Amino acid sequence: MTKVKKKEEVNQVMENIVSLSKRRGFIFQGSEIYGGLAGTWDYGPLGVALKNNIKSLWWKRFVENKDDMYGVDASILMNPRTWEASGHVSGFADPLVECKKCKAKHRFDQLAGVSSEKTEKGISWKMSADTICPSCGADGAKNLSEPSAFNMMFQTSVGANKDSSSISYLRPETAQGMFVNFKNILDTFHPHLPFGLAQIGKAFRNEIAPRDFLFRSREFEQMEIEYFVKPTEWKDTFESFVREMKLFMRDIGLNMEKVHELEVPDGERAHYSKRTIDFEFDFPFGRKELYGLAYRTDFDLKQHSEFSKVDLSYYDEETKERFLPHCIEPSFGLDRTVLAILTDAYTEDNLGGETRTYLRLAPSVAPYKVAVFPLLKNKPALVEKAKEIYKNIKNELAKVGIQGVTFDDNGNIGKRYRRQDEIGTPYCVTIDFDTIEKGAGVTLRNRDTGEQERVGEGELVESILKKI
Ligand code: GAP
Repeated sequence: MTKVKKKEEVNQVMENIVSLSKRRGFIFQGSEIYGGLAGTWDYGPLGVALKNNIKSLWWKRFVENKDDMYGVDASILMNPRTWEASGHVSGFADPLVECKKCKAKHRFDQLAGVSSEKTEKGISWKMSADTICPSCGADGAKNLSEPSAFNMMFQTSVGANKDSSSISYLRPETAQGMFVNFKNILDTFHPHLPFGLAQIGKAFRNEIAPRDFLFRSREFEQMEIEYFVKPTEWKDTFESFVREMKLFMRDIGLNMEKVHELEVPDGERAHYSKRTIDFEFDFPFGRKELYGLAYRTDFDLKQHSEFSKVDLSYYDEETKERFLPHCIEPSFGLDRTVLAILTDAYTEDNLGGETRTYLRLAPSVAPYKVAVFPLLKNKPALVEKAKEIYKNIKNELAKVGIQGVTFDDNGNIGKRYRRQDEIGTPYCVTIDFDTIEKGAGVTLRNRDTGEQERVGEGELVESILKKI
C-alpha cells in the first residue's frame, strides 16, 4: 500500500516539474504539435540559458582553466569502422523481450525480478515469479519471449547509394570523436603526457524504453574528457578526477548529500573499463547514475590503431620509449545534469500565508540572476527609471562576464515575484515611488526568504555582485 502511494507521490513530483518546465519555457516535448516523438525534448529560452550556463562552467573548469586540455568538436557522423573498432557494432545492445499476449516490447533487464549472470557464452538472464509484462500484467515466464540483443545505435545511410557500403550511425557517445582526433592533436600541438581532449555534443541512442523525462532519452548531450596518461600513472589521475568531478557538482549548486559514489564491480563494467565509478544522484524516482568515471586503459587507441592501420603511439622524449597512452574518461550527461538541477531545486513552501512553488537554483546556473521591475507599469516616471537601472545593471554585470538580467513589467508585482520565483531568479529589484521621489534607493528581494532590503542606487551593482 505504502509502496503504491510512494509511486504516486513520485509521479506527482515529476509531473509538477515537467509541467513547470513547459509552462515557463524551459523544456517542451519534442515535435509536440504532431503528438511528440518519444525520447526527444526541445529546450526553450530558459532551458537553453540553464544548459549554456552548465556548459560554460564545465568548459571553464575542465578546459579553459587548464594548460593540458584541448577542446574539439567532432562530427556526429563518423566512418562506420569507428564503431566496429570501438565495439559498438557488436556489443552496444540491450536485451529486448516481446510479450506474446499484448506484443509490447520491453528492456528485459529493467523488469521486476530479472537477474543476470555472466557466463562463458555471454550474459545469461533469469526471471522470477515477480516478472510480469508491465504493459498488460501477463505472467512473464509464460508470455515473454527469450531476450534478444537490440543494438541501440541509430543507423542511417550517407550519400545517394543505399547499400551496405553507405551505412553509418549517429554517434552513441562523443568519446570516439576524441580518440579518432588523438593523432591530430599530437601532430598539431605536440603535447606531452599527461594531456586530455574535451568535447561537448549530441549523442543518440535508440533506447528501448525512454523514460523519466530527460533521464533516459534517445537524443541527448554529453560533456566528455579523454585524458591520456603514462600507463603507470592512471591511479593518481583517476583520484584527481573524482575530486574535480565533485567540485564541478558544487559549481552547479547540486546538493552533495544527494550524490553517491558507486564502485562498479567486476563483471558489470563496460567492456573497455578496468575501473569505473558511477556518481549516482537521488532523483525523485530513485538513486540513478548521473555521471561516470572510467579507466579505459589503452583499449580505444589500440583498437583504432589496429582498425585504421594508423600508428597512434606516443613517443616519450625523456625515456625514448614509444607506447600507447592509457586513458581516464570522466563522462557527464548534460540533460541528466539539467534534470538533477531541476529536481533538486524544485521547492514548495509557504510564504506570507500563501503556498508557492519556486526553483532554488544556484545563481551560477539560474537563467536570470536579476529581474528588474517598475512597481507599476502605467507610471512613465517609474518605468523610465526602472529601464535606466536595468540597463546599468546589465552593462555592469556584462563587464565581469555575467549575463542574465531581465526587465519585467507584466502583470502586478505579486505575479512578477511568483513568476521569477518559479524560474529560479535569485534576486528581484523593484523601483518604487520612494526611488524617484526621495532618492531612497530600490528594494532588493531575496527569492528564498522573500525578504526585501533597501539598497542605495550607488551600491546596487556591488551588492548584487556580492550576493551572486
Ligand atoms: N563515453 C562513455 C559513455 O558514454 P555512458 O555511461 O554510456 O558512458 C555517459 O554515458 C553519460 O551519458 C551517463 O552517465 C549519462 O549522464 C548520459 N546518458 C547516457 N545515456 C543517456 C540517455 N539515454 N539519456 C540521457 N543521458 C544519457
